[in-house]
Amino acid sequence: MSDLLPATQPTATLMDGIYRYQRHIYDVSRRYYLLGRDRMIAELDVPAGGSVLEVGCGTARNLVAIARAYPNAQVYGIDISTEMLKSAEANVRRAGLQSRIHSIHGDAAHIDAQGQFGLRGFDRIVFSYSLSMIPPWRQALASAVDNLAPGGEIHIVDFAGQRDLPAWFGRGLKTWLDTFHVSPRLELNTELALQSARVGGSARVRSIYRDYAVMGRLKRGPLR
Ligand SMILES: C[S@@+](CC[C@H](N)C(=O)[O-])C[C@H]1O[C@@H](n2cnc3c(N)ncnc32)[C@H](O)[C@@H]1O
Repeated sequence: MSDLLPATQPTATLMDGIYRYQRHIYDVSRRYYLLGRDRMIAELDVPAGGSVLEVGCGTARNLVAIARAYPNAQVYGIDISTEMLKSAEANVRRAGLQSRIHSIHGDAAHIDAQGQFGLRGFDRIVFSYSLSMIPPWRQALASAVDNLAPGGEIHIVDFAGQRDLPAWFGRGLKTWLDTFHVSPRLELNTELALQSARVGGSARVRSIYRDYAVMGRLKRGPLR
């Protein structure tokens, strides 16, 4: 039986369809255009013994990198695609990190730190090129905010509006992204401001690589 809410099942079916075969070439092919992921990981600054959740963890490429960069952290992943999770489990096993990385099947819009992971909240929650694929992305952000530990932070990297790149490049990229059901979230700035205000926190967004991508950060507390 599925562990997802009925309304979520169509997204799970769509993602499994996209990634059933793609997952085998995912890490090799995406390294050239999912830019900024390692920069985001380097900026996480996870507290000693802290916890990190990646929402839409895919093949666990980032989970493994985070676990290596922060050797005292406990690392968690959630993904709606059981196909992607097959690759994630294999990659975590290959890296010998099963004791520190745990990934589960679930929907970004319904994160439950206590029920799913037995934690009161996460010190860091990461969205790496996943918000643009999650239809209820605003709900996913709200759910992440609700599952942050006090002083915790959300870090985001994703496609941006291609403002400072040639128009032909932006059009080509959009056609390519449409085939994978990817929609850059051009209102990310506004949404992060709303979500941070809701919990008395702070947020910041900056574009990178001539607006190819965007990096966002929200903290339950003041940002330095
Ligand atoms: C482009 S991949 C990014 C994977 C990984 N974060 C990375 O940076 O390589 C997007 C991932 O988001 C997952 N996803 C899409 N919708 C989701 C949802 N509603 N809940 C959880 N995961 C979702 C997909 O299954 C896929 O694994």
